[in-house]
Amino acid sequence: MKKIAIIGSINMDIVSSVMQFPEPGETVKGLEFRTCPGGKGANQAVAAKRLGADVVMFGKVGDDIYGKQALQVLENSGVDIRHVETCQGVNTGIAVIHVNKEGENYIVIQEGANKHVDIDYIKKIQPFLDTCGLVLLQLEIPMETVKRAAQYCAEQGIEVILDPAPAAPCDGQLLRCTDFITPNEGELKKIACEDDMEKGARKLLDAGVKNVIKKAGAKGCYFINRDRMDYIAGFKVKAADTTGAGDSFNAGFAVARAKGYEDRKALEYANAVGALAVTKMGAQDSMPTHKEVELFMNDLKRGRGI
Ligand code: RIB
Repeated sequence: MKKIAIIGSINMDIVSSVMQFPEPGETVKGLEFRTCPGGKGANQAVAAKRLGADVVMFGKVGDDIYGKQALQVLENSGVDIRHVETCQGVNTGIAVIHVNKEGENYIVIQEGANKHVDIDYIKKIQPFLDTCGLVLLQLEIPMETVKRAAQYCAEQGIEVILDPAPAAPCDGQLLRCTDFITPNEGELKKIACEDDMEKGARKLLDAGVKNVIKKAGAKGCYFINRDRMDYIAGFKVKAADTTGAGDSFNAGFAVARAKGYEDRKALEYANAVGALAVTKMGAQDSMPTHKEVELFMNDLKRGRGI
């Protein structure tokens, strides 16, 4: 199996559960409060490791207690954190998250150390990237860094999966280095400046992306490239918390690719990982193991559901 590199954010999530989100200017009482490690990069690293991959995390934390806790959880999960750096005098990335009773969320991130994942850092980690067969990138570190990382990996023949979240304009240089881009509906609209899904996906293909995977939440996902368009149905589950749903999907897809699954099978696997992740609270805490995913898929095949 190919080794997976994740270059991205490491956060501490400050999570508050509420019955209903407040309106602007309104105060509501919360139900529950907790802090738990997050960040799209770190979430994807933990998820990929639980699914059985060999995972190296690249990123930065601040010199505070949150950074120590976030790294401890990554290390306990078995993720290689030897190349994660600690920035002095900087706070670890923070995400303030509100989750309502439907499991929907609002997230505000304060970048902290994630902002310091710069091009010099990418130059430094190049020899270690060379040992990986696949890289997973998101947009919670500076765009210039993502571009440089994608360009280097493409030059070295390392497969590039780009999770374009949070959505931001992606220029042609980045898109040309991307093997798979995995936006949800809102992200695709923003990045392609196009409301129609198929037209939006074609715009990204014209800009140089090789394959577009449009995530559609519980409905599953669409796979679009120059030769074909395919719909892969999702799994129906009761959502407790959708935080990290996209991260679990991306990790599931990356692990399936690293194992050499063909596209459709890889996306079915990713849908199952995403479905299981939303049945539990939290981001990293909710990531399923490979065994759990297999059982879930087999149960469904036997028509029992969960
Ligand atoms: O994708 C979910 C993640 O987004 C959270 O863990 C939070 O840290 C933000 O980065």
